[in-house]
Amino acid sequence: MPASHRPDRQNAPAWWQTEVIYQIYPRSFQDSNGDGIGDLAGIESRLDEIVALGVGAIWISPFFPSPMADFGYDVSDYCGVDPMFGTLADFDSLLAAAHARGLKVILDFVPCHSSDQHPWFVESRASRSSSKRDWYIWRDARPDGSPPTNWIGEFGGSAWTWDDTTGQYYLSVFLSEQPALNWANPDLRTAMLDAMRFWLDRGVDGFRVDAIIFAAPDVDGGDHPPNPDWTPAMGPARSQLQTRLAHQPGVFDVVRDMRRVTDSYPDRVLIGETSGTLNDVMPYYGADMDLFHLPFYFAMLSTPWQADALSALVARYEAALPDGAWPTLVLGNHDISRIASRAGVAQARVALTLLLTLRGTPVLYQGDEMGMDNATIPHNRVQDPWERRVPGLGLGRDPARTPMPWTDIDHGGFSTTEPWLPLHLPPEGSFARQATDPGSMLNYARRLIALRRAHSALSQGTYRQIHVGPDVMVFERRAGTNRLVVCLNMSATAQGVSASGVPVLSSCGNRVEAFVRKLVLAPNEAVILDVSPGG
Ligand code: NOJ
Ligand code: CA
Repeated sequence: MPASHRPDRQNAPAWWQTEVIYQIYPRSFQDSNGDGIGDLAGIESRLDEIVALGVGAIWISPFFPSPMADFGYDVSDYCGVDPMFGTLADFDSLLAAAHARGLKVILDFVPCHSSDQHPWFVESRASRSSSKRDWYIWRDARPDGSPPTNWIGEFGGSAWTWDDTTGQYYLSVFLSEQPALNWANPDLRTAMLDAMRFWLDRGVDGFRVDAIIFAAPDVDGGDHPPNPDWTPAMGPARSQLQTRLAHQPGVFDVVRDMRRVTDSYPDRVLIGETSGTLNDVMPYYGADMDLFHLPFYFAMLSTPWQADALSALVARYEAALPDGAWPTLVLGNHDISRIASRAGVAQARVALTLLLTLRGTPVLYQGDEMGMDNATIPHNRVQDPWERRVPGLGLGRDPARTPMPWTDIDHGGFSTTEPWLPLHLPPEGSFARQATDPGSMLNYARRLIALRRAHSALSQGTYRQIHVGPDVMVFERRAGTNRLVVCLNMSATAQGVSASGVPVLSSCGNRVEAFVRKLVLAPNEAVILDVSPGG
């Protein structure tokens, strides 16, 4: 294990190993200028609330210039700020204000596609002899005029878009408005790495790298085979196995270059949106730990909310991690149903406890700290292009993207006008309401994060499964003499657990016992026991 990764006294762990990362979806965090859309100045105005939560870093989803076909994941200038979100000066101000409070700032880097409005693509599509032609991925039609391969895009439809002007198809893995960038072209590669340097030079603390699995498609490798396990509810893209498009060998080379750039600045982090199976994800650490510091593993999102299934998943993951690899298991983000809806509102605190007590770096999606559940979006308010293209399957992401309900006044204190997506209150009410209620989910989240900070067992310690049944998950976290046992009741009935110790936190409020010999968990209760000697 490289010295910098070793959680012991001589080698302090890196900040990205011990801190909780908080994900901000900027359109929906705080509007500062009354246009109904969140912005950078709005984020800056809420930094004290973020600090009070106890997290150590924020990851901000894209705020770069964009036509917003995919709400910022279609970038038309990698080195700027969209006027909708503010200016570069606003960003510098936000960064300085965050750093002044000890908060790290991670940006979203979107390397695999730009917007079709990016000047590079405008030039690329202008003629076949354009100097930027090869910055994107162009191919001839098949003899019958159909796309070069049968690949289906992530949002449905062909992954190829026909361009009349130059008579070729270009690859577009998501929307047609998101042409795939060609990392095999050295000039494109240099330009993109320079964009990373642009932000690193300004002082950002790292990147979450979007959709990286698609960075090196084997375009001439042929068609995708059908997925034998497909059901229509999975959406059209999953009907094939992406054997040529995803996780191709060249991807690792791209990530290695990104990591080199990142490592040329001190103390930065590189996080990968590495969708895939365990076998797909592990190589993204790199044989020499020279790729992502934190490749996301998303399997919890598709695992039934049952103690045995989740424990088995964690066990498989722990066993698969190579030496020196730091874990990170994803529980929520702006692309999927809210955890409070997936696990059930009654389980929201249990889920939060799991996220914040598993080994590795937790990423907490805005609103999950106060139990936000999915909003119902009226038909005429749907914004997500995925829902528009593939309606009715529940793939739409708007329900998890509604604005932060800060207060109980009009528009939730998020804006002075009707927000871009309807305001939705979580079951326990607005942030302001929860902030003043000691028993609220928000205050539970604050206590939980404070506990995580106070105990090296939680932030750095080992993980050992102690008990697992269909309804109860119990595991130990240990760093030297600091030992905590996490007990999660994933059912709606009381459950006995043979664990003893000092209850230091319960999701159901204060426990009166100074010491428990046999723990009885209330329905949907999470309890953390301190079992350190003398604890
Ligand atoms: C993953 C992002 O999280 C998602 O929001 C986006 O639509 C796709 N990548 C395409 O960039
Ligand atoms: Ca605004």
